[in-house]
Amino acid sequence: MSAPAFDNKIIKWIDERIPLFTVLEHSTSSYPTPKNLNYWWNFGSLALFALVIMIMTGIVLAMNYTGHTSMAFDSVERIMRDVNYGWLLRYLHMNGASFFFICVYIHIFRGMYYGSYKAPREILWWIGLLIYLAMMATAFMGYVLPWGQMSFWGATVITNLFSAVPVVGDFIVTWLWGGFAVDNPTLNRFFSLHYLLPFVIFALVFLHLVALHTSKSSNPSGIEIKGPQDTIPFHPYYTIKDLFGVGVFMVVFLGFVFFAPNFFGEPDNYIPANPMVTPPHIVPEWYYLPFYAILRAIPDKLGGVIAMFGAILVLFALPWLDSSKVKSGRFRPVFKWFFWLFLADCVVLGWIGGKPAEGNYIPIGQAATAWYFFHLLVVLPLLGRLEKPLALPASISASVLKEKA
Ligand code: HEM
Repeated sequence: MSAPAFDNKIIKWIDERIPLFTVLEHSTSSYPTPKNLNYWWNFGSLALFALVIMIMTGIVLAMNYTGHTSMAFDSVERIMRDVNYGWLLRYLHMNGASFFFICVYIHIFRGMYYGSYKAPREILWWIGLLIYLAMMATAFMGYVLPWGQMSFWGATVITNLFSAVPVVGDFIVTWLWGGFAVDNPTLNRFFSLHYLLPFVIFALVFLHLVALHTSKSSNPSGIEIKGPQDTIPFHPYYTIKDLFGVGVFMVVFLGFVFFAPNFFGEPDNYIPANPMVTPPHIVPEWYYLPFYAILRAIPDKLGGVIAMFGAILVLFALPWLDSSKVKSGRFRPVFKWFFWLFLADCVVLGWIGGKPAEGNYIPIGQAATAWYFFHLLVVLPLLGRLEKPLALPASISASVLKEKA
């Protein structure tokens, strides 16, 4: 990395001692970026933007929240009614979580369509999956904090899953709870970890970006950069494009915050937690629903837990399960269809996850679960061998010029 010439004497002085400005300049300004990135490449920066919103609003919410079972619910109500702009902070944080997941889901499926996980970006993909796991844990613990009915019963159901682990199951559950039921020690540790994990996510995002800048961004044609003719500097081209994305994001996001702030929420969570009354349907937040469907598709508790965790763990092997040499779905005529089928399958799983486990919902959930694993473990390895991909353009710049012609 050659140091850029800085005119400002103070900046130059600091940079010669610790190259902060050189690193910043390389990663946010001169970083050579493929010239053909489409809008699907906006979702990484949008996820980062959402993460910053979550941390900022979360820190101020924590100043007004009380992590005790006898006061948590009321402290949240006080935030909503008495704290200056408390309602805004809370609605930004609640809806921010959903929008964070929307961005990350689009980001993951973008990666799947364009084969972004393939060599040399396997570790970048793995770090992404670790971020995703940390996000799931953070959101789960955050949802417990208002201590409403869904908070309490969601925490009870999900922590109880660990009791399915042979021999040490009950010990794990007691250890997670910090006692013999979901109670004050549980709420306290969840609050502590909910505050800690976003910073772990932040550190993982930093590593994610280091890996990205080492292997360089992929692009919609899935061809690697062959020379300077294939790239443009990140600034101003992609800084402006990412800012435009942030503008559109804000319009939609604030639309929900101001006009439908409880759209993603569950009315039962406005009822204080009551260990003596079980709600008729215990449903997790929408972003867990596909996994909840997989959990319930297997009639055996341990089997369900293994399938649910397996559904995420199998994604770590994706760079090898997908045996095709061609990265981008654009040039894979058969893969393309299976990709859309897989996406539809995930939507079906999400829909089933929100329904009670009865009647026809059971076999549909089982078929969708089977297809999820069949796609990843059988279809993808076979497709790479059997499919005949289309001819690839000679280079990124050639593909751009062809689109213009
Ligand atoms: C906090 C969450 C995350 C943030 C802030 C984040 C941020 C970013 C950013 C800024 C980029 C470059 C721009 C782009 O390609 O969109 C990127 C690329 C990438 N991310 Fe993430 N990411 C997150 C989560 C994930 C997850 C969960 C995965 C996968 C499981 C993932 C996989 C990837 C891959 C494979 C690329 C390279 C894409 C390419 O160049 O084709 N990321 N990420």
